[in-house]
Amino acid sequence: MAFAGAAAPNGRNETVLLADFPRVRLAHVPTPLEAMPNLSRQLGGPALLVKRDDCTGLALGGNKARQLEFYLGEAIAQGADTVITTGAVQSNHSRMTAAAARKLGLGCEIQIEDRVAERGLAYRASGNMLLYRVFGARLHPFAEGENERGADANLELIAGRVRAAGGRPYVIPLGPEHPPIGALGYVDCAQELLKQARETGIEIDTVVVASGSASTHSGLLAGLRALESPARVCGICIRRRGNAQAERVLMRARMVADLLGRPGLVRADDVWVEDGFLGPGYGQPTAEMREATALAARLEGLLVDPVYTGKALAGLIGLVRRGAFTAGANVVFLHTGGTPALFGYPELFAEGGEGTGSPGAAIA
Ligand SMILES: Cc1ncc(COP(=O)(O)O)c(C=O)c1O
Repeated sequence: MAFAGAAAPNGRNETVLLADFPRVRLAHVPTPLEAMPNLSRQLGGPALLVKRDDCTGLALGGNKARQLEFYLGEAIAQGADTVITTGAVQSNHSRMTAAAARKLGLGCEIQIEDRVAERGLAYRASGNMLLYRVFGARLHPFAEGENERGADANLELIAGRVRAAGGRPYVIPLGPEHPPIGALGYVDCAQELLKQARETGIEIDTVVVASGSASTHSGLLAGLRALESPARVCGICIRRRGNAQAERVLMRARMVADLLGRPGLVRADDVWVEDGFLGPGYGQPTAEMREATALAARLEGLLVDPVYTGKALAGLIGLVRRGAFTAGANVVFLHTGGTPALFGYPELFAEGGEGTGSPGAAIA
């Protein structure tokens, strides 16, 4: 399988060839790498930067645009006419899959996993849920939200019905045992990020990212190692506890390395996950997430979401406060998008919960 490196001036490999994999272009790239000077100052400690993958362009942006380039590339290569996938009620993956399918002239069927208990009407009707309907996707409710294997198995039943009606389905499952084709998008992102760092004249110490299905985390990690970068990747758990997530990331990263034809690229001690910011569970708000959301907005004009990037940023803030980074380090927050889900959680900033009008004032 193709992996080739061209030596960069500093001796590092500059190019990971992904040309052997079917691909369509969906993401607006390169996404900006920006400094967060106000948040850095407020927290003291390392220099914080943000890699703006919330700005990948497709249907309000996010990490899934890079992943879908490879999934839909395969779908087109197989002659599919309908894309089927699964996700939570407020799934950014499902929203962007619907958008990508439409852009390529394909049908879209979305399984909606009921994963998050006790959410209100906005959660069930606004944000991504509204957007699935705008894209005209066919929706399939799935009550057992935490049954990942069951959710994937049910996708096959939906695919069977599409086939029986004369369609040609392409299924994007989210379970860990499936080939991590989407993660190749983050091998590409690793390459893009290292190029930007080199052009900016900085050395990246750590990239902090929300770690869910682990395609983003594992692709980024494998990509950095393939390019001989020592940068660490810290995955903030947003769905499951640390042990299970670390196991998943390692397994997925090894699968990515195999896809690149580079077995042995990622070692167990390369995998760093933090589960102290998950709170009661997936999609359940935490005080730290709310504080991170307010800090990002009020100090940097940056929007994060309650399910993924708000918790990931809360993780980054918590690690800085804990002294996990040296003062001179450059720490990159990989902003994976998700902001439409904010509209599913209006109670977080309900009337009375607004600020004082001043940047950096105490966040309630
Ligand atoms: C906004 C956002 N960030 C991060 C993630 C996690 O990415 P991954 O599933 O690749 O771990 C997701 C996944 O749905 C997401 O929607």
